[in-house]
Amino acid sequence: MDMLTRIAGLTADALAQNWPDAQGLPTGDELRGFLAVPPDPAMGDYAFPCFRLAKALRMSPVQIAQKIAENWPHAEVARAEALNGYLNFFLNRGNFARETVEAVLAAGDRYGAGEEGRGKTICLDYSSINIAKRFHIGHLSTTMIGHSLKRIYDYLGYKTVGINHLGDWGTQFGKMICAYKLWGTKEEVEQGGVDALTALYVRFHQEAETDPALEDQGRAWFKKIEDGDPEALEIFNWFKELTLKDAAKTYDLLGVTFDSYAGESFYNDKMEPVIAELREKGLLTQSEGAWVVDLSEDDMPPCLILKKDGATLYATRDLAAAVYRQNTYHFDKCLYVVAYQQDLHFRQLFRVLEKMGYPWAKDCVHVAFGMVSFEGQALSTRKGNTVHLDDLLREAVEKARAIIEEKSPNLENKDEIARQVGIGAVIYTDLSNNRIKDIDFSWERALNFDGETGPYVQYTHARCCSLLRKAAEANLPEADLTTLDDDESQALLRLIGRFPDVIREAADKYEPSMITRAVTDIAQAYNKFYYEHRILDGEPEAAAARVALTDAARRVIKTGLWLVGIEAPERM
Ligand code: ARG
Repeated sequence: MDMLTRIAGLTADALAQNWPDAQGLPTGDELRGFLAVPPDPAMGDYAFPCFRLAKALRMSPVQIAQKIAENWPHAEVARAEALNGYLNFFLNRGNFARETVEAVLAAGDRYGAGEEGRGKTICLDYSSINIAKRFHIGHLSTTMIGHSLKRIYDYLGYKTVGINHLGDWGTQFGKMICAYKLWGTKEEVEQGGVDALTALYVRFHQEAETDPALEDQGRAWFKKIEDGDPEALEIFNWFKELTLKDAAKTYDLLGVTFDSYAGESFYNDKMEPVIAELREKGLLTQSEGAWVVDLSEDDMPPCLILKKDGATLYATRDLAAAVYRQNTYHFDKCLYVVAYQQDLHFRQLFRVLEKMGYPWAKDCVHVAFGMVSFEGQALSTRKGNTVHLDDLLREAVEKARAIIEEKSPNLENKDEIARQVGIGAVIYTDLSNNRIKDIDFSWERALNFDGETGPYVQYTHARCCSLLRKAAEANLPEADLTTLDDDESQALLRLIGRFPDVIREAADKYEPSMITRAVTDIAQAYNKFYYEHRILDGEPEAAAARVALTDAARRVIKTGLWLVGIEAPERM
């Protein structure tokens, strides 16, 4: 429990004791919201404004504050002083330090973990790349936000299902097969992989300008895929394999995994019953030959279910996918980590599910995020200025390698550490702002060891590890943790004490950046503490306490980095 909650709870107890007959007193949770940090630390660590209670207690704030302060029985937690209608709390610093460090060390590697998710399932749809396209930087956010959320929910005891809803359906695959049959060779495609497929697709469009009959051939090939023609399926599955083999390299670098790769094509035979259900429930209407669900009451354009020629759409497959996920996993929540551009699509989707009478429609959430630009340049696939994710990651590792070479030439396994630092720098940049904000990626910023960056936090972790290695040789006595009552230790302890709450807030708001922020604050507070105090010097009991605090900080930083998908090297 963090200190704020604790003080609020004790204040609620004190109210009940001092005014046993009063009605409508605020609960501890409500009180927590009123507690503030006074502008001047001389006025206490937390302050409670008693005018909030004047009405319920029919007393002046000054009298209320005095009465509580006089009968405050919790000095071991905090001292209470009345001043001008405020109740000022001064934490018992020594006890707070002891309790907080002990809590972290007792938790092993699971400080802040929980069981509140036991028995609940969360589906997460993330990354969801498109077949026959290179994995580009536009798919970084969905991949990393989804991966981080999965770890966060796992940590809180939920069962999670990570789903890569592959974009593997559509007429473009018919065109690609057509182009392959006309101009491609097996060797070329095997060697060129996704790039060779893209080239075939581009050529198809060029040739189709002068030879419109190609379009019909493309459509015919797609029809064959839909109908399960063996040759068409074999080529299609081969294209898919090639793309996934390519993507697997990127996923390996990022440390990202999935429980399911059921993409759009998986729902080919699962849409029919959903369409029938829509029809039965009277939700399908015809519009210019197409079948749609009218959403004009909700101020939205209609949701397109079947085209004039009977073809299904992205939304049709998403409807089938949602129903399938609920029937298969019985999810308590289904998160779609997808760019904000698809906002309308998801609002339509969830509304249609609601109209179908599914109460779980309210448990579907679009976790939207902003765009990524690169060194100030917007990225667009159509204009061709994309940044391929694997190129970006490889470059990050190379640049990290060069920096490490310069800073720590004697380090062992530099390659491994360069990988952790380079990839960490990219992930940190992606997860350091509110997800809905657009991000501009810049090498300068991402790899700066002194700014608010991945390498900075990793470096602080390595610094803690190095100090602990030294301390292990110093033969220190048992720590007296109550000696950690100086301002720097306390500032660090307050952040560590709140860390479990941050994890929960991040889960509630689907916002991994809150954890990135928290570990950065902890790293900064640790460094301040490190520079102000000679950790291993002085009284042995106090030195041992500073070492214990270092160990606590190390563990929290490592956990926090892990929760956002960043590794924590022990030497840098
Ligand atoms: N493949 C899509 C894209 O790259 C994202 C799919 C998101 N998931 C979903 N269930 N619609 O834009």
